[in-house]
Amino acid sequence: MGPKLQSNDPCWCGSGRKYKRCHNKLDQLVASGRVVPGKLSPLREVPSHIARPPYAQPGAGGRPPRGDGQAEVHDAESLPKMRAACQAAAEILVAAGELVRPGVSTDEIDAFVHQACLDRGGYPSPLGYAGGGGAPPFPKSVCTSVNEVICHGIPDDRVLQDGDVCDIDVTIYLDGFHGDTNATFCAGEVDEASRTLIRVTRECTELGIAQVRPGGKVIDIGRAIQDHASAHGFSVVRAFVGHGVGRRFHAPPTVFHYPEPRAEAFSFRPGMTFTVEPMIALGTGDHAMWPDGWTAVTKDHRRAAQFEHTVLVTDDGVEVLTVPAQGPAFGRAAAETSAAT
Ligand code: MF3
Ligand code: CO
Ligand code: CO
Repeated sequence: MGPKLQSNDPCWCGSGRKYKRCHNKLDQLVASGRVVPGKLSPLREVPSHIARPPYAQPGAGGRPPRGDGQAEVHDAESLPKMRAACQAAAEILVAAGELVRPGVSTDEIDAFVHQACLDRGGYPSPLGYAGGGGAPPFPKSVCTSVNEVICHGIPDDRVLQDGDVCDIDVTIYLDGFHGDTNATFCAGEVDEASRTLIRVTRECTELGIAQVRPGGKVIDIGRAIQDHASAHGFSVVRAFVGHGVGRRFHAPPTVFHYPEPRAEAFSFRPGMTFTVEPMIALGTGDHAMWPDGWTAVTKDHRRAAQFEHTVLVTDDGVEVLTVPAQGPAFGRAAAETSAAT
């Protein structure tokens, strides 16, 4: 950025405004280690032969059609398609995680995930998704959440720094079904507290999934996750939840990651598919929202991590659908932060 600007100098960005009225505050935040919004690249195109989910059809405004309020139960016809979408998501996540290193921008990760979805004949589910809650359509094809960003970070020109952690959340819509998975990766040398946070978050995800069985309840997942996070002095983020996933991106049931009494009513049945995706924070689990309407950050700006799988309730337990056919679940993210052996 050159020599240090005085507050009344013209800003370095060429806006013509005084530095103090333009980038001064943002520069100070960056210097203090905070993640700040960057610049978005132009919209990425999707060829017309790729089938779009209903919310991404022209005129839909990113809003999915109203659902019937019921959890989807798969049959012999839908389950292979659901499996294929989840496999694709898992493979793309592992490959995207390989890109994480200092010097790579989150926009480069977005470009990769976008193309990887198209190469498989799928649509990158986040692109143009507004959900039901009044958010603007998500402008990119994957969520990249760096350091204090809890979830739904929008890929931009920010370059990963040595010591950053970055969650990559891949969802692909393939042959009518969404597969949804994420993992937190390390860029360069990451401090031990962050690596412990990442490992414990992965364990929380696994312990939560281990509770799933026919007749089981969402509250069992939440209890397992909360207990493990608390044992390490970490917080569970309560504002964001797991969800049914299949023909719809977000559907019942709501999967709380803490013991929420409202989660008692619903019982799992074979054939249901949903996500378990706890966000665990070093400090407070409370969040603040960036003006973009998507990016959620921890209120204390300390780091958060997340892992996500799409799971299937089987006749006698649970099957994780977003494990890649080759290699371990979550690829590099898991290898880098496994407990010392
Ligand atoms: N993949 C996220 C989830 O786990 C949802 C992202 S919505 C988006 O539910 F619009 F931000 F992509
Ligand atoms: Co999800
Ligand atoms: Co996701």
